Amino acid sequence: MDKIKIGIIGTGYIGSVHARIFSRDERCEVAALYDVKPERAEKTAKLVGGTVCQSREELFDIADAVLVCTPNKTHTEIAASAVAAGKHVFCEKPFSIGLPDAKKLLDIADKSNKVFQVGHNRRYAPVYTKLKEFLSADKAHSAHIKMNRGELKNPVWTGDPNVTGGFLYETTIHLFDMLRFQFGEIAELSAYGSQHEYPELDEFSIIFKFKNGFHCTFASSSDASWIFPFERVEVFCHHRTLLTQEMEHLIDSNGLDANFETFSFGMTEKEERWGYVQEDKAFLDAIINETAPPVTALDGYKSVELVEKVYEAIKSGAKISF
Ligand SMILES: NC(=O)c1ccc[n+]([C@@H]2O[C@H](COP(=O)([O-])OP(=O)(O)OC[C@H]3O[C@@H](n4cnc5c(N)ncnc54)[C@H](O)[C@@H]3O)[C@@H](O)[C@H]2O)c1
Repeated sequence: MDKIKIGIIGTGYIGSVHARIFSRDERCEVAALYDVKPERAEKTAKLVGGTVCQSREELFDIADAVLVCTPNKTHTEIAASAVAAGKHVFCEKPFSIGLPDAKKLLDIADKSNKVFQVGHNRRYAPVYTKLKEFLSADKAHSAHIKMNRGELKNPVWTGDPNVTGGFLYETTIHLFDMLRFQFGEIAELSAYGSQHEYPELDEFSIIFKFKNGFHCTFASSSDASWIFPFERVEVFCHHRTLLTQEMEHLIDSNGLDANFETFSFGMTEKEERWGYVQEDKAFLDAIINETAPPVTALDGYKSVELVEKVYEAIKSGAKISF
């Protein structure tokens, strides 16, 4: 079988991470790279090979599968054009910005007979697959979740809501997707937000209620420090707490005493610890086996819907039902 030809649009931080991972998989080759700053595509090509393209169209002529790794506001248009060119698409998070564009891209992806996968990498991170394994054998009652950043300065565009769509789209959306992955579909939410450091709402407190009765609190700050763990999920079950610390550890405290067992993933390479290796493998598996990818366009759409409902709840001061 011919190798799948991978084309990467946007070869900054995450585009280069994917380029390195795909370059090690024998089932594919990094065949084409395009970036509005050509020197970035050239730098990545030096490491992994591939033609440095002068345009998106040139990349579409070469590639079978296209990765969209550009800043958030460009995703809908670039991903839609890749589908129109008949390509398999891997679209980094966020799937889209705003419900009208998200709906448009969902319709386009649904009509395509090629794979469309969204880059919610944390679903594959060992710490979260282990949590899911525990929760499939136990009943979660409630949870307390945090997803912070230290700043919105690096890359510079992360502090511009006209590019990100808002802080929730850039960072928090990772764990919004995780909510559905671990706990099911959401029934209603209440939210408060405030503005401090950046030209947008940058601090959030949210309460989610799920269709199955589960409920959780969720805090997200864009200007906290980078103190470890900036991302934490604390789940409370029957005489049991399951606690994650970023993608490093899962702590299981089970029973009536204060005992606990720690599962540590700190020695795993970051690309695998964060789930990037597994999501790229899943993309190739879906293309080769002609199956749906583990994170679909509908999952991408639902994460956008959650972001929009939280902003709506803050603006209106009302409880929002789904
Ligand atoms: N899943 C994750 O864990 C994860 C991690 C980081 C970033 N991301 C997402 O990936 C995307 C890129 O983030 P990044 O940190 O790599 O940013 P980055 O700034 O490092 O890289 C983006 C690249 O896209 C290029 N670019 C901009 N507009 C373009 C266009 N229209 N066509 C072609 N190239 C264009 C830029 O020149 C730059 O090289 C963002 O949407 C971000 O949210 C996801």
